[in-house]
Amino acid sequence: MQRMNRIISILSRLNPHWVAIVEKYLRAIPSVNQEIEKETGSLTSELETSLKPYKNSFPSYARLPSQGRPRQAILDEMQALKELEERRWRDGFVSGAVYHGDYAHITFLNQAYAIHSQSNPLHSDVWPSISKYEAEIVAMTAHLLSSDAADESDPVCGTVTSGGTESILLAMKTYRDWARHHRGITHPEMVLPVSAHAAFDKAAQYFNIKPVRIPLDSSFKADLTAARKAITRDTVVVVGSAPSFPHGAIDPITELSELARQRGIGFHTDACLGGFLLPWAERLGYPVPPFDFRLSGVTSISADTHKYGYAAKGTSVVLYRGPELRHFQYYTTADWPGGLYFSPTFAGSRPGALSAACWAAMLSLGEQGYLEATRKIMETAAFIRAEIQAIPELSVLGDPLFVIAFASRSLDIYQVMERMAQRGWSLNGLHKPSCVHLCVTLRHTQPGVAERFTSDLRLSVAETRQNPEEKTGMAPVYGMAASLPLRSVVSDILKKYLDILYKV
Ligand SMILES: Cc1ncc(COP(=O)(O)O)c(C=O)c1O
Repeated sequence: MQRMNRIISILSRLNPHWVAIVEKYLRAIPSVNQEIEKETGSLTSELETSLKPYKNSFPSYARLPSQGRPRQAILDEMQALKELEERRWRDGFVSGAVYHGDYAHITFLNQAYAIHSQSNPLHSDVWPSISKYEAEIVAMTAHLLSSDAADESDPVCGTVTSGGTESILLAMKTYRDWARHHRGITHPEMVLPVSAHAAFDKAAQYFNIKPVRIPLDSSFKADLTAARKAITRDTVVVVGSAPSFPHGAIDPITELSELARQRGIGFHTDACLGGFLLPWAERLGYPVPPFDFRLSGVTSISADTHKYGYAAKGTSVVLYRGPELRHFQYYTTADWPGGLYFSPTFAGSRPGALSAACWAAMLSLGEQGYLEATRKIMETAAFIRAEIQAIPELSVLGDPLFVIAFASRSLDIYQVMERMAQRGWSLNGLHKPSCVHLCVTLRHTQPGVAERFTSDLRLSVAETRQNPEEKTGMAPVYGMAASLPLRSVVSDILKKYLDILYKV
C-alpha cells in the first residue's frame, strides 16, 4: 500500500496526458494490478451491501418460478418495495430525480399510461393516436422554445426521445452525418465546455467524434476565448448548456451560437434541464439570457419533458432548425428482407404509453400550471441559495437560478455531503472543483422542506468543522474518486458498480 501511495503521489504531480500513458504501463505490471484489485475489492464488497439492501428481506429469482405466482402476491411485494423507497423522494430529500411527484399528478399519469400501455409507435398505422401525441409534444415544446422566431423556410421540428441522453446522442450523430454529407468531414470534432453533460462524451465515444473541451470562466460558464480558438475546419457542432448539470450555469449561448453561425456550423443548446423552466422564469421576470431559437445560430435544442416538463420518466424532445437537419437523425432501410424499415430515433419498438402520459402531463399543467410551478421552484431556490451563502464555511459557485452548487475552502465538502446523507439527504457530489449540488424541484417547495435542508446543512457543516479529520461513509470514496490520478482505476470501479447492479 505504501508503494501504491508513493506512485499515486508522484502521478498527482504529472500532466494528465502523461498520467494516462504511465498508467497504461503501470497496470500491465501484475503486482501493481494485484494491489489495485485488492484495494478496490474491499470497496466493491461495501458497495454491494449498500446497493443490494433487499438481499435478505425479499425473495430473489435467478430463474423463472416453475409455476406463475399469484398476481396479488406479486403486486404486494412490489408495493412493499415501493413503500420502502418512496418516502425519501416524496418528502423532498433528493436532489433532482423526481421533479413533480404530487400524488394526484402521478395517479393521473399512471391512468394515461394504462390507457395506452399496449401501444408501439413503430406501428404507426395501428396506433396513430401516439403519432398525434408525439407531434403535439414536439410542437408545444418548439413553441415554448421560440419556434415562432425561426425563418419560415427552416421551421423548427423534432422528435420525442427516451430522455436527455438520447436527445443529445441523436443530435450529435445528426451533426456528424450532416457534416460528412455536406462538408466531407471524416474526422469530426465537437467543441464543448467541460461542464457539458457526460452524454456528449458518450456521443463522442459512440460516434467517433473528437471532443474538444473548453474551460470555464470564473462564473462557471464556457470561456469564449477558448471556444473561439477550439473551432477548427473539422468542427461539426458547438455545444452550450442552459443550464449546465454541475453548476447550474447558463453558458453564453448568444456568443457561442454566433461563433458557430459565422463559421457555418451547427450549435446545440442543451436545455435538458432548463428547457421547461427557463422560459417560464423569464416570463416571471428572472434574468434569463437568450438560449433558444430566438438566436439565429442555435440549430438544435434538447429539452427534457421528464424533468421540469413533469412527465413520467422516459421522454425528452430534440428539436432542429429545419427538417433537412432532422433527416440526418432518421434511420431508413429499403433493402431489408423484413420489409421497409424506418425509425426516427435509436429504438425500434417504443412505449407509446410514455408519450401518451407526457402529452397528458403537458395538457394538464398548461401555461398557468408551468408558470406557477416555476414560481415556487425559483422562490425556494433563492431562499436555499441565500441560506447557503450565509454559512461562512460554504460558498455558492457562480450565480445559479435553481441548481445550486456549493463548495468549501476550509472543510471536506464530501464529508459535509456524507453527514447530510446520514440525515437522509441524497445530494449530488461533483468534482473539478470538489463541490455538492442541490437541484431544486417541486418536492423542495413543500412546506418546511427548504428550512429542513438548510438547518440540516448548518448542522452537517458544524459537525464537519468539529471533526475535520473524520472521514465516514462515502466521503473518502468521493475524495479518492475526485483526486486519484489513476483514472482507469476509477473507471474500473464504476464498471464494477454496474456489474453489481445486475447481480441477483
Ligand atoms: C444538462 C443536462 N443534460 C443532459 C442530461 C441527461 O438527461 P437524462 O438523464 O435524461 O439522460 C441531464 C440530466 O440531468 C442534464 O442535467
